[in-house]
Amino acid sequence: MCAAHTSLSLSACLLPFRLAPLTRLALAGAADCHPYTDVHALERQVRAVQAALPAGHAIIVSTKSGMKRISDESNGWRPGSTAPGSVRKAIVEAQQALCARGAPLFLWSLHHADGYSKPGALEAALEEAKACVAEGLLRHIGLCNATQSLLERALAVTPILCVQNEYSLYCREAEQVRPPTAAASSKKGVLRLCAARGVTFVAHSPLGGLKARRGERSLAREYPKLASLAAKHGVSPQAACLAALLHRGRTLGASIIVIPGARTAVHAADSCAAAALQLSDAEVDDVMGPVVR
Ligand SMILES: NC(=O)c1ccc[n+]([C@@H]2O[C@H](COP(=O)([O-])OP(=O)(O)OC[C@H]3O[C@@H](n4cnc5c(N)ncnc54)[C@H](OP(=O)(O)O)[C@@H]3O)[C@@H](O)[C@H]2O)c1
Repeated sequence: MCAAHTSLSLSACLLPFRLAPLTRLALAGAADCHPYTDVHALERQVRAVQAALPAGHAIIVSTKSGMKRISDESNGWRPGSTAPGSVRKAIVEAQQALCARGAPLFLWSLHHADGYSKPGALEAALEEAKACVAEGLLRHIGLCNATQSLLERALAVTPILCVQNEYSLYCREAEQVRPPTAAASSKKGVLRLCAARGVTFVAHSPLGGLKARRGERSLAREYPKLASLAAKHGVSPQAACLAALLHRGRTLGASIIVIPGARTAVHAADSCAAAALQLSDAEVDDVMGPVVR
């Protein structure tokens, strides 16, 4: 089973991949594409990935809507439409373009759920998505960039398969205990709430995100203990980092997936090593500090 996450050229969920298909996926995923702006570019990319898959492997398409990125490389965002019908329109468009004829979209997530904090806005958007599930257009609903409170509100409307929030050595909010004084927009505690409510936690930007892509961050330089751990196990600091995040998430009782971005087959295959790397509690504590209960 393989997964294509449509928000970057290629993003690999590390759980069920085998190396050979992943490498071929990475090669196929090298297509030029401006995510968030052009569903037809995504369509071409998904078709290329499908064509590269060996027989017997399915592709799962997950996508999201609710915000528009100004360009692939900028950090600029603008809200998408929140008009009635806009969620349905995005889901129908993605399902028609990205899924095999008649098959439902596997997962649609409300991008930047925190943009829907006004009373009723989140609920209205999710009701539209829920109707798409009932119609057979969509299988599962998710949230991106949710707070604990938004996740609770969403769960009162519909089952939520997963929450995709930032989680990396640079951004640890998700695993922290949310203090009562936390700002409304704080994402603290979301991984813990996901664990408690049986919602899968999807760690985005797990290697440092845009700043890593711009070369402004270096895991090896900024986390020497990670570099030592990686050397001890004969893997890259990136693979060790992903394994540590997976380990910590599981220690907190969560079902956790990491979605590292990779634009080269070498990076995709290298990050895949994290799936097989078993670290001890002591090794992860050494890099990330002890678990706070
Ligand atoms: N929901 C949201 O709001 C949100 C926000 C931001 C990101 N995301 C998602 O999170 C995912 C990852 O985002 P991202 O790519 O910005 O951040 P990332 O995964 O933290 O970092 C990607 C960077 O790490 C490099 N890299 C990947 N694997 C490597 C390896 N094994 N060894 C060395 N370098 C490696 C990549 O290089 P190359 O590209 O050269 O391979 C790229 O420069 C994407 O799917 C993205 O869409 C979601």
